[in-house]
Amino acid sequence: MGHTNLHVRKAVIPAAGLGTRFLPATKAIPKEMIPIVDVPMIQHIVEEAVRSGIRDIVLITARNKSAIEDHFDFNYELEDTLDRKNKKDLAEISKSIGRCCNLISIRQKNPLGLGHAVLCAEPAIGNEPFAILLGDDLIDSKIPCTKQLIDIFEKEQASVVGVMEVPAKEVSKYGIVGGKMLNPKLMHVENLVEKPAPENSPSRLAIPGRYVLSPHIFEYLKHTHPGKGGEIQLTDGLQLLAKKEKLLAYQFDGIRYDAGDRLGFIDATIAYALRRPELASGVKELLKKHLGS
Ligand code: G1P
Repeated sequence: MGHTNLHVRKAVIPAAGLGTRFLPATKAIPKEMIPIVDVPMIQHIVEEAVRSGIRDIVLITARNKSAIEDHFDFNYELEDTLDRKNKKDLAEISKSIGRCCNLISIRQKNPLGLGHAVLCAEPAIGNEPFAILLGDDLIDSKIPCTKQLIDIFEKEQASVVGVMEVPAKEVSKYGIVGGKMLNPKLMHVENLVEKPAPENSPSRLAIPGRYVLSPHIFEYLKHTHPGKGGEIQLTDGLQLLAKKEKLLAYQFDGIRYDAGDRLGFIDATIAYALRRPELASGVKELLKKHLGS
């Protein structure tokens, strides 16, 4: 492939969507800034990339998304005030977010689909492998999901998508892969279908928004025609790539939350709150109270 000797140093996070599924919350703030407990969703995603060894984050944005850029900058007024009030811990929480990564923003000026959003990142990625993390999917795992994929990419010298098994009735919510299993967790991908009907699905292995790809994907995306929903689909670009070069699918370890869905969001909120030592017992009490037991 010619790019695999390079480290994966960059990640693309598409964040140009209108967030209509979360109205009215998203009327004036980007959906990516909605917090799971007290951490904005986008920060959970950026932290996964950073914990995977990535420092340069290419954010694909749109109008009215500047709060995301401010969040990953320093906030001098806030941090100086906290320092002067001797609230060092809080000041450090704010500063550490500013230090964690370099954010490179590129506007997707027309909403032409996820594949088009990824193609917008080409000038910032250039000719090196990169990760993609979709912001609605939170993956809780000891080794970050993106790191698991980077390890496969480096070992197998091939592009790789993260997959998880879903019930047949849910395949129509995802990009689905089909191909030959190389071992119980790894598939050589031969075909991909965006949101298939259950009867046309090549398998029940779904892509919940994690990818580590060769930069060749940009060429394939340039030749990808609008597909499902009239949009340029990343899944269709990957189908073109899979015909020409090796593409793998890896069943990663971890629990995935669909935080772009209201119930998935509540599920993630409860799970992440229960993991916080200072909140866990209080949250359990609240749940008992609401369930009347
Ligand atoms: C997108 C992708 C799909 C993927 C999904 C994961 O769909 O097009 O292939 O499986 O994200 O969340 P969306 O959920 O944006 O419609």
